[in-house]
Amino acid sequence: MSDKIHDLGAGFWNIRGSFRLGGVLDIGTQCSLVRLESGKFIFLDSYELTGEVRDEIMALTNNGKDVEAVLNVHPFHTISCAQMAKDFPQATFYGSSRHHKQVSEVQWADDLVESEAVAQRYPELKFSMSEGIHYISPNEMIHAGSLLAYHPASKSLHVDDTFMSPPMKLLEVVLPELILHPTTKKALKNEPNAGKEYCDWATKIAQDWDVRNFCAAHSYLVKFEEGEFKKALLKAINKVRPKLENA
Ligand SMILES: [Fe+2]
Repeated sequence: MSDKIHDLGAGFWNIRGSFRLGGVLDIGTQCSLVRLESGKFIFLDSYELTGEVRDEIMALTNNGKDVEAVLNVHPFHTISCAQMAKDFPQATFYGSSRHHKQVSEVQWADDLVESEAVAQRYPELKFSMSEGIHYISPNEMIHAGSLLAYHPASKSLHVDDTFMSPPMKLLEVVLPELILHPTTKKALKNEPNAGKEYCDWATKIAQDWDVRNFCAAHSYLVKFEEGEFKKALLKAINKVRPKLENA
């Protein structure tokens, strides 16, 4: 898979990259570039930029100098943070407490990426932390939880593992579908209402955010027409709600 940059308009770019599971199977990964009101830029997630995509980003960002911060929104996506810090040495790096522990060579900002302080700093984006499930699961194999970022100006949602699109089928070109991360049930917090809390949170995302560009880490960029994202996410939630609520 060669890297690609998609200009989604209104100052939002999604970069599709590659990530090889166990060094073999390429499941893909992503980062996004957001232009702020001030004219500066931030990244959502870290990625080792190379080739033409890197050239394009450097051209957009005054050779990287206008990138003021990198917000790493998935606690288990840590592999490119150190490289990103070398590429954008002047940027402030935000991450979860797991990023701080895992990638100690990066000088992390004290404010965690999911903090209110960071959300206030970037009103160009709306953030939502998954509820009812672990953000940082004690089981390293469970990656369902993350911090979601929505860019209203371009109607783009940047989400790593929490929501996904199923493998492309011909029909989905007409009717795009969504699925929840396969480890969602295992990620539930050990609390009586965790399943309901998760489903209610996901329902609220479906209702509140008018997503047209769905950018998920290990699937592809899915375009939705008006109302389709809501329909697809509600369908995915309703399908698993009984299983999650009785977990
Ligand atoms: Fe992931």
